[in-house]
Amino acid sequence: MSKRDLVGRTVLVTAGGTREPLDPVRFIGNRSSGKQGVAVAEAAIARGATVILIGANLEVAPPLGARVVEVGTTLELQMAVDAEVATADLVVMAAAVADYRPTEIAPTKIKKSSDSNTLELRLQENPDILRQISTNRARDQVIVGFAAETEPDDETLLQLGRAKISRKGCDFLVLNRVGWTEGFASDGNTVIVIDTAGDRVGEASGSKLSVAHRILDLVFAAR
Ligand code: C5P
Repeated sequence: MSKRDLVGRTVLVTAGGTREPLDPVRFIGNRSSGKQGVAVAEAAIARGATVILIGANLEVAPPLGARVVEVGTTLELQMAVDAEVATADLVVMAAAVADYRPTEIAPTKIKKSSDSNTLELRLQENPDILRQISTNRARDQVIVGFAAETEPDDETLLQLGRAKISRKGCDFLVLNRVGWTEGFASDGNTVIVIDTAGDRVGEASGSKLSVAHRILDLVFAAR
């Protein structure tokens, strides 16, 4: 039985990976399964929080007890976050969000060209949702971002994390190494959590549910 330290709190979690359509049958996406974000939602529910889970193309079932909003693209995720963020005491942005989307979505399936063996795609930058909610927050909310990086060593991961947290303006950043076999679709995870000063406030390794509980401990303990 988990400790019930989040009774009366509202936690908004984003999970999964956004997909940006190219045409009616294709998209640009990433390999995020949504497992870590769903585990954060599950941990928060077990600790008594009211949980809103915004799921982008989840490959795992959302936990019982969460109010789930399903989205596909980054712009849909942005709309859902904007609609839900006001009531949240804690926001955990675990979703892997596409930084770019195609400038145009072809109305019919893009055909293979007969006179060129390359195809160019034009991409448009997506809004940075984490940065926007961190900048515009109206009250004392705790905002946690995730940074999935492929860098092999902790020092480089921390350097990237420090630059990212100052760019994003969130309170904590969960640094998560991902790659062909690590991070995204696996059942376990290893993370380092840093604060706005770029200091390492803790780390966690183990099942995604145990990592989720540790993240909640760290971000609430620091308040
Ligand atoms: O810059 P990067 O994509 O690594 O940032 C990761 C963090 O920012 C995650 O918490 C992700 O949910 C969030 N993000 C966002 N909007 C974007 C890109 C990322 O909210 N356009």
